[in-house]
Amino acid sequence: MYSLEQLVASAVQDFTVAQDDAAALENAKAKYLGKTGQITELMKGLGKLDPEARKAQGALINAAKQQIEAALTARREALADAQMQARLNAEAIDVSLPGRGRAGGGLHPVMRTWERVEAIFRSIGFEVADGPEIENDWTNFTALNSPENHPARSMQDTFYIDGNDSEGKPLLLRTHTSPMQVRYARSHTPPIKVIAPGRTYRVDSDATHSPMFHQVEGLWIAENISFADLKGVYLNFVKAFFETDDLQVRFRPSYFPFTEPSAEIDIAFGSGPLKGRWLEISGSGQVHPSVVRNFGLDPEKYIGFAFGSGLERLTMLRYGVNDLRLFYEGDLRFLKQFN
Ligand code: PHE
Repeated sequence: MYSLEQLVASAVQDFTVAQDDAAALENAKAKYLGKTGQITELMKGLGKLDPEARKAQGALINAAKQQIEAALTARREALADAQMQARLNAEAIDVSLPGRGRAGGGLHPVMRTWERVEAIFRSIGFEVADGPEIENDWTNFTALNSPENHPARSMQDTFYIDGNDSEGKPLLLRTHTSPMQVRYARSHTPPIKVIAPGRTYRVDSDATHSPMFHQVEGLWIAENISFADLKGVYLNFVKAFFETDDLQVRFRPSYFPFTEPSAEIDIAFGSGPLKGRWLEISGSGQVHPSVVRNFGLDPEKYIGFAFGSGLERLTMLRYGVNDLRLFYEGDLRFLKQFN
């Protein structure tokens, strides 16, 4: 039989050999401390000894057992440490590397204009409304007094889409924000004082036209709203928008089926690079009595004005951008200048 010292030494040796595998270490443990392990067997043998010898031998075996247990614990900890160290090495990050960073986002210049327009009109008591970009024929054209064969409905101007409305007419992408006049007026009671900014669509593409563009519709209907109010409201708006009082507004006679009289609104700056040039920025007019009737209102009682201005146009004039296509190319060198 081994001496107890040999037994301890052999256990320590076995534990040391049990490498990174926890199961190997537990097997080695069983060999000494398990139910039929060598220490356990020695303990069982004590019963055969007389009391004196049992006491002496028992103390020695116990001491050996404690040494083996201590060696086991130490080995377990060493293995756990080694495992942790291996993991730390594998998952090491180089904190000295430059960060990837996250570029700050910014508002698109046309969205900046959109927000400015909303803020200015809210400040003079206008509501802001929102509506569908897919419209039906009646709301986009008929209700706005556009006769069936009006050229604005032609395939060249309008994006028709698959699917018909309840009257069997094809659905379309709204060609202007004016259908929002109809939608809003039919669901609210006068006085009606609203703007409706949003996306609009036409088959058109060059330096000043894009197939998708933005407009803001304005509508003020009450019992006594005249062209003079349009003039006052619009002048106030452009002065606030362009942040200058050195600016003139001109109403140039024009034609829209849904307004009578109708006018293009032109502005001219008194200074700056565009000084003295008349620039068209909006359609406008007094809402046609037939359209007021289509709002569900009595044109003998209610009267008012509407305008529809291009948000791209306003943005181009405010920042001196000369090609509208720049807004849609997504070139960060261009877009960054606005943030
Ligand atoms: N809807 C017209 C357009 O898109 C603009 C407009 C709006 C004109 C309201 C008069 C009144 O050209």
